[in-house]
Amino acid sequence: MMIIREAKVGDADAIYSLGRQVPEFVVNGDDTVTFWPKDILENALTSDDTVIFIASDQDKVVGFTIAAYNQGLKKATIENMYVAPDHRQSGVGKLLIERLLSTLASKGCEYVATLVPPNTDAAIRFYQSAGLSKGETFLWMDRSLSDNFKRA
Ligand SMILES: CC(C)(COP(=O)(O)OP(=O)(O)OC[C@H]1O[C@@H](n2cnc3c(N)ncnc32)[C@H](O)[C@@H]1OP(=O)(O)O)[C@@H](O)C(=O)NCCC(=O)NCCS
Repeated sequence: MMIIREAKVGDADAIYSLGRQVPEFVVNGDDTVTFWPKDILENALTSDDTVIFIASDQDKVVGFTIAAYNQGLKKATIENMYVAPDHRQSGVGKLLIERLLSTLASKGCEYVATLVPPNTDAAIRFYQSAGLSKGETFLWMDRSLSDNFKRA
């Protein structure tokens, strides 16, 4: 049975092994890791400013969503949304984003945004079906301030 629940520290390995191989998460192919380093992910799982839900099918993690909520700005950024290929297009992503958006709203969040590669039709349509609108296209710029985020 598919359930959506808040992620726990014990889910870090499963989230990490799914997240580290997702082409849509690449933001800088040369310099920067494509997914959260494991210790950062563990930190996020116990942090008040991060909201993480997982989809679990018979106790196996098959999808997740990670959002950063800035209480001062009442704004959330959906950092990651992922459903395993063999579970796609059966409503799992929708369950995850609905749970995420209702949780953010209950925390006082008034605005939500996310970034998707401009050529990812599935992701764009997915977010549109969740009520998000397309905005401007920006160039990602980044810099690692520790070795943690540097691509090996
Ligand atoms: C984007 C993603 C999370 C969608 O998950 P999913 O479980 O397949 O989505 P759902 O089955 O819940 O579909 C929800 C809605 O999105 C639409 N959608 C999902 N995949 C789609 C696709 N490939 N093409 C067109 N629409 C799609 C569905 O039609 C549905 O719309 P509806 O509610 O109006 O009928 C999944 O494809 C994924 O993990 N992709 C790789 C990672 C990624 O791109 N992440 C987001 C950007 S970084």
